[in-house]
Amino acid sequence: MALQLGDKAPDFTQESTQGEIAFHDYLGDSWGVLFSHPADFTPVCTTELGMAARLKPEFDKRNVKMLAISVDPVDSHTEWIKDINETQNTEMNFPILADADKKVSDLYGMIHPQANDTQTVRSVFIISPDKAIKLMITYPASTGRNFDEILRVIDSLQLTAGYSVATPANWTDGDEVVIAPALQDPQVLEEKFPKGYKVVKPYLRMTPQPDK
Ligand code: BEZ
Repeated sequence: MALQLGDKAPDFTQESTQGEIAFHDYLGDSWGVLFSHPADFTPVCTTELGMAARLKPEFDKRNVKMLAISVDPVDSHTEWIKDINETQNTEMNFPILADADKKVSDLYGMIHPQANDTQTVRSVFIISPDKAIKLMITYPASTGRNFDEILRVIDSLQLTAGYSVATPANWTDGDEVVIAPALQDPQVLEEKFPKGYKVVKPYLRMTPQPDK
């Protein structure tokens, strides 16, 4: 059955540009982003890996380890990385899995045969420190991902893991958030949201971001 939110992220061991990776050990106590690329030496993927490498300090700040995957062997990745560094004004600073046998791509359902028989689509998995899958997004090969959006979702996941809130449409870090509808006891609301809250509708209550 296809992976779903809340499932344990399947563990694996696979070759990478930084040696063999045992996925759960690699993640340790960090959050993780696992994202697939259709193939090496492709233009959109080149820009994506460059962008991700430039944003690594932002992922580090959030305690997130990145791991890319492409269904080509290590020596191909190594040659490709030279192009990425040369053209994207960066130094690749996280591993790319060499999934030539498609072990990981199959495990995570990254090959969608109606889109392409052999290459992966652009999958993104965000994984929490307890190894649960918290987000899955699938993009077609023709659309490069927005890594600011991936960081935004991580901010939301990390905030909502610690507070009884959810984040509204187009929220970014620092904006008002929504109080979880299940919270109704006025005393509990006062304790949990000392900065106060606005009742727009009984089910739509806005409060300043609690960790700011
Ligand atoms: C690319 O990364 O540029 C790409 C890969 C596969 C199909 C289309 C574009």
